[in-house]
Amino acid sequence: MEITKDIRYVGVDDHDIDLFEGQYDVSENGMAYNSYVILGEKIAVADSVDGGFVDEWLGNLEAVLDGRTPDYLVIHHMEPDHSAGIAAFMERYPQAQIVASMGAFRMMVNYFDTDFPERKMVVKEGDVLDLGGHSLTFVGAPNVHWPEVLFSYEATDKVLFSADGFGKFGANDIEDPEGWACEARRYYFGIVGKFGKFVQAVLKKAADLDIQVICPLHGPVLTENLGYYLDTYNTWSSYQPEDEGITIAYASVYGHLRPPLRSSHLRLRLAARRFPSLTWLATTWPRPLRMRSATTAWCSPPLPIRARFSRS
Ligand SMILES: [Fe+2]
Repeated sequence: MEITKDIRYVGVDDHDIDLFEGQYDVSENGMAYNSYVILGEKIAVADSVDGGFVDEWLGNLEAVLDGRTPDYLVIHHMEPDHSAGIAAFMERYPQAQIVASMGAFRMMVNYFDTDFPERKMVVKEGDVLDLGGHSLTFVGAPNVHWPEVLFSYEATDKVLFSADGFGKFGANDIEDPEGWACEARRYYFGIVGKFGKFVQAVLKKAADLDIQVICPLHGPVLTENLGYYLDTYNTWSSYQPEDEGITIAYASVYGHLRPPLRSSHLRLRLAARRFPSLTWLATTWPRPLRMRSATTAWCSPPLPIRARFSRS
């Protein structure tokens, strides 16, 4: 897939996975592991894919390279769903160098018993990888989502490679009828949400860049209305509400502590009287909110738990 004339998508879609990272339900729409190629006078490949898809990824890569060989493998993030193909790539392309942060190379030794000492190029904030006609400027993005993470900015086509940032659940060959935000929100708060201050720091750096395209490691490439995505990330990472509303959250093993629906409805009606702007919520309650994970179901339609566990 062509992103710009010289930047191509070579990622894969995973429809076999049920739980991403062993806990986030993606059984409906799967998951995408994105990877990109930047075709300058020299060629850089940005990130690899999950271990189950390395052969498919190398095949995609070969088709785009059309007989050329890559000069660099750039690693933005070492989580195994992006780094599992490193050793296979380095074996297939023995002339290629590997470009990553010092933190990423430390992890690499543990993953692959080597950090490719003869072929490694350590980069940090502000370093530039000149490809001839294209260049990547590295932006430190620690803890978005792991400490070794780098973003990079390609200045010619104005593309931000954003690692896990701006990613979402769902394979790219399925159109998500709910659009980007719903599953991007669930992804963000599951994966990166607790690192808000680090996301804020990288958003400040991004504000100085002229970004036309965002290439995340999961989900669709973002090409239009980028202010919306940046603003949404600013809202999420600064823990501000997106909408006015009331959340009733509870946790109960057997359901006995579940707030009785009738009294919740009554309280919402009372709240709506006091805050007229909330009337819509009282009148539409109960409505299912989509917060699926292996362990949570918030405000979902009530299950018949009472009936099953009642003593009477
Ligand atoms: Fe990650």
